[in-house]
Amino acid sequence: MQYDFGMIGLGVMGRNFLLNVADHGFAAAGLDLDADKAASLNQSAEHRKVLGTTDQAEFLAALRQPRTIMLLVPAGKVVDSVIDGLLPHLSPGDLLIDGGNSFYEDTARRAAYLQTKNIQFLGVGVSGGEEGARRGPSIMPGGDHAAWERIQPILEAVAAKVDDDPCVAYMGKGPAGHYVKMVHNGIEYGLMQLIAEAYDLLKQVGGLSNQAIHQVFSEWNKGPLQSFLIEITAEIFAQPDDQKSGDLIDVILDKAKQKGTGKWTSQSAMDLGVPVPTIDAAVTMRGLSALWSFRQEAAKDYGDNAVEKTVTTAAFVAQVEQALLFAFILTYAQGLHLLAVAGKEMDLDLRLADTAKIWRGGCIIRAELLEDIRQAYVAAPDLENLLGSAVFRGRLKTLLPSVKAVVVKGVENGIPLLALASTLHYFEALRTATLPLNLVQAQRDFFGAHTYERLDATGVFHTSWGQE
Ligand code: 6PG
Repeated sequence: MQYDFGMIGLGVMGRNFLLNVADHGFAAAGLDLDADKAASLNQSAEHRKVLGTTDQAEFLAALRQPRTIMLLVPAGKVVDSVIDGLLPHLSPGDLLIDGGNSFYEDTARRAAYLQTKNIQFLGVGVSGGEEGARRGPSIMPGGDHAAWERIQPILEAVAAKVDDDPCVAYMGKGPAGHYVKMVHNGIEYGLMQLIAEAYDLLKQVGGLSNQAIHQVFSEWNKGPLQSFLIEITAEIFAQPDDQKSGDLIDVILDKAKQKGTGKWTSQSAMDLGVPVPTIDAAVTMRGLSALWSFRQEAAKDYGDNAVEKTVTTAAFVAQVEQALLFAFILTYAQGLHLLAVAGKEMDLDLRLADTAKIWRGGCIIRAELLEDIRQAYVAAPDLENLLGSAVFRGRLKTLLPSVKAVVVKGVENGIPLLALASTLHYFEALRTATLPLNLVQAQRDFFGAHTYERLDATGVFHTSWGQE
């Protein structure tokens, strides 16, 4: 028996991805050092052609040559040690696929190293969590195009489908797959924080119960905000506590953890000079949430935000919905703007219409909006920022008054709206022809002779400030 596909790492993601591959008629072998995980795969084989083993030699011998081996192991050093362990036993032409959330610079380094060993390599972003891996994720492969062509039939079979279109496409060269996945996660952070702020407004200012918030999100999911994150948020508010009476959401500690992909997005955006303030705000809010003990004391010292509850009106809920839609559009805009710049700077050969297309299904940031976003990039492949697209211009203008009203309400009531307000200010700054940064340039030249440019003449100028 020769197996078409190998998986290293039979944690939930690896196991589910492998079973998904096997469901589509491919023979799939899995390797894990944990004997229970390997045995459990064999037990769930049923009609599928699968093999679970703890023995690397058996695993490698079972795979059809040239071999196709995917790694779904924790990002970081583990990936390098798995590769080092495999290398002496691989043959030229074998293909390694890293499907974890690897840092894109590690992917670039690994690709260059493996090329010297005649091993093909793809860095592949996989999104959709456990359920996605099992039933259809969104898949973002990048690297050697010939390697993509080899694995294309399997990835197209297992990916989520939207109107029969598989949610997988070749993202671009080198570390493109992992770069796109990183930005996907940065957008994910932004959307999640915006939704959390909408919850705060509905709860604190609107005085809505969990049940009412459940209904609001369920309704929103039928409209232009339709998305996976809005859908699961509605469900979260209907979830009873499994340990005592009450709603589960009310007993979850308000301290958000992170594994780094959002922070990497902000860091890369800073390096490239691309503003992504909603994503920055989302990362910062996770940091602020983690200062839990400090916040408990400061709340006593300064007084917690004593919200004067306004009467709940359908109009307020509608304003929050519109504000959220505005901010969703501009969070995708920031992520895609970063991709546009990074693609050029790093020569990744990205195609943003394809990126929007494969994000329409399977992934965490899937949303109805992405079809409009895809169309914006089809109409203008070199679009710098969605804010400049005719597809969104009218919509953003219509939504703007609601965003302003909601941010004002939050400020009046002491509700921290770092992501929503940042998104509003991002928009305001981008549509402002004259910003006060002429003053910053003057200050830089004043204290450091850093020079400035003029509106009325070309060239670079320096002034001896304060002298006649
Ligand atoms: C996905 C998710 C997945 C993971 C996040 C969580 O696309 O399926 O993004 O990759 O759940 O990395 O990230 P944090 O732990 O940093 O929130």
